[in-house]
Amino acid sequence: MTKGRSFHGEEGIHGERWLELHDGYFGDHEVAWPFLNTIEEIIDKSHPAVIADLGGGTGFILGELLRRSNTAEMKLINVDVSSKQLSLCLDKRIVTICESASLVTRRHLQVGDGALLLIARSLLHYFGKFGSRSLLRNIRSLLREGELFIHQSACFGQDSDARCLNLLYSLMGTEKWYGTEGEMTEMLQQAGLEICSSSPAPTLHLSSRDLSERYGLSPERISSIRTEVKRQHGNIPDVFSPTDDGFDAWLHYRIFVCRAI
Ligand SMILES: C[S@@+](CC[C@H](N)C(=O)[O-])C[C@H]1O[C@@H](n2cnc3c(N)ncnc32)[C@H](O)[C@@H]1O
Repeated sequence: MTKGRSFHGEEGIHGERWLELHDGYFGDHEVAWPFLNTIEEIIDKSHPAVIADLGGGTGFILGELLRRSNTAEMKLINVDVSSKQLSLCLDKRIVTICESASLVTRRHLQVGDGALLLIARSLLHYFGKFGSRSLLRNIRSLLREGELFIHQSACFGQDSDARCLNLLYSLMGTEKWYGTEGEMTEMLQQAGLEICSSSPAPTLHLSSRDLSERYGLSPERISSIRTEVKRQHGNIPDVFSPTDDGFDAWLHYRIFVCRAI
């Protein structure tokens, strides 16, 4: 099993704690609403035989789909590298596969003759600037022409905002990478994924307290990161704001519906 390059060190916040972290973003029904609505619209039109959630974590999104939509005829699969995350995915109607999204194959997903729908929320940035491109190539290879990939991914309207977050994450010792909407569009097209639609999704608030827990950072380290990001980027409302003892940052997301071409 190969893990995403930035996965290591995060196991501590996987499982139960994950659903509470970052103001409960990843266990919040309202926050998930735009992504789920987009998926439901596509399900109603395309009637997939299999829905696979790449980096599906605790299974929150698939669980919500089971609760809200008519998925009775569909096989639901959660693919994630973290066994701790998958241990919370207890609904017997969801098949779990502990594998990297960059290595999973169509054979793993046992799609048969039906159509496959791939979904992913907040996964791409784990693979870094270059790894995201090879992940997207693998995602494209899972799909037959015309099949769809719906993902909610972090990306920024302004290049300077993306650079600010990239500086912050590199100072925290991760290889996660955030691009702009333009870069995302170019990466998807290069992988053979045509964007059918793109729409905004709720922003994720990242407090330095949560980030210090997630990445094991001391108060001194948080303080030096705050100083350096502030020195290079200043205060960018809704992107990076220094506080008395740390900082607040925000990840901006968009939902992309992509068709394999
Ligand atoms: C930010 S969380 C999002 C979880 C879920 N998609 C959600 O929205 O609730 C990212 C997830 O990606 C998983 N992940 C990281 N690297 C991965 C990889 N190479 N393959 C599959 N999953 C991966 C992590 O274990 C984690 O569960």
